Amino acid sequence: MNRRRFLQSLTAALAAGGLRIARAEGGFRPFPPAPALGRPLQPIGERAPSEAGVVRYISNNLPSRHTGAAFAPIGELDGIVTPNGLHFERDHAGVPAIDPEAYRLVIHGQVERPLMFTLADLMRLPSENHVYFIECAGNGQNGYREPPEPTLTATRSRGLVSGAEWTGVPLRILLEEAGLKPGGRWILAEGADAAAWVRSIPIDKGLRDVLVAYKQNGEALRPEQGYPVRLVVPGWEGSIQVKWLRRILVADEPAMSRGETSEYTDVRADGRIDFFTWVMEPQSIITRPSGGQVLAPGYHEIRGLAWSGFGRVDRVEVSTDDGATWRRARLTGPVLPYALTRFVLDWSWDGRETVLMSRVVDERGQTQPTRSEFFERWGRNNRYHYNAIQAWRVGADGRVQNGDPALAGAPAPPLRAGGCGGEVFDG
Ligand code: CO
Repeated sequence: MNRRRFLQSLTAALAAGGLRIARAEGGFRPFPPAPALGRPLQPIGERAPSEAGVVRYISNNLPSRHTGAAFAPIGELDGIVTPNGLHFERDHAGVPAIDPEAYRLVIHGQVERPLMFTLADLMRLPSENHVYFIECAGNGQNGYREPPEPTLTATRSRGLVSGAEWTGVPLRILLEEAGLKPGGRWILAEGADAAAWVRSIPIDKGLRDVLVAYKQNGEALRPEQGYPVRLVVPGWEGSIQVKWLRRILVADEPAMSRGETSEYTDVRADGRIDFFTWVMEPQSIITRPSGGQVLAPGYHEIRGLAWSGFGRVDRVEVSTDDGATWRRARLTGPVLPYALTRFVLDWSWDGRETVLMSRVVDERGQTQPTRSEFFERWGRNNRYHYNAIQAWRVGADGRVQNGDPALAGAPAPPLRAGGCGGEVFDG
């Protein structure tokens, strides 16, 4: 922030009752240095002990912990890169243990030369590094609850998204090495998990920017992120970014697999069903303040995340008065295509009840619908691609709760949805 803007916000904060962030009660007393030698060097670092409670959220009523999801604690994180151990996780049949020496990736089908790669082969090839978000198509599924759930947190609202720097070999290089035949119009990617998870990707996307990734934020993929090798498909839904990648079949038709028929298809308000809805819509969420947090009056920096599967974030607008007026937030840190983008806004809370909201506009000019606009299009039977504006209500007591408005009309029967959203809704 420049000095003038800081002073302006400071003036506003003081006018509203002071910053209330620092006091020197009882006189100045510098924090003391350690009286003795501290912990010695160690081969691997540790989290601060106070971070013990910063963990992923796993719903306690999943039918099986092998087929659910763990939500990244986005309400407690900063920046645009998620620590590897906190990256969201979605599995369809648990996490397989794969021996990197035995591992092989096969490319076959409509190619001139079927190929088989070891992990070392893949790591020897030209590499690229990209910061991308990965988001579950079911992210936001809790927004389908009607009436809205008061105790929703940022983590449970939008925690099925994470950001990381991925290292890998472009799929294009492997496909060119194999030599595509004219009939090769689809890539059928298969995982080595017990579900043998399969998703189909059009060849033009496969040749454009798909990464065969083996590292995440500099270290080997975590087992739950697909060790030793996964696909990273920028901007597209998480379930197509096949983990534990064992096979790429180049084919003339898509697989029409379980993951693109019985799951990851979208029910519209008129009952028609869309399939192959790959791109993740523009999204944003205020992470501070957010549900479950408690505020004192005075200065706060509103912080949040924005992203779009269509490319870069252009801008983020924030309302601190229940949507009456909107201010442009500041984007802090790099603004990268298909990556989480961090926004901040100075705000002085006057202690009165209010509602906070954010909405992103991406580089294509697309933005987020209101909750009622979203349900007009999708009705109440879908489970995926929820990207309506998330509102947080700040009570006069400082407690922050879900501020989403209830929809007009009769409450819908509870949606019994599980799986990808990671939570089975209570009946
Ligand atoms: Co979809």
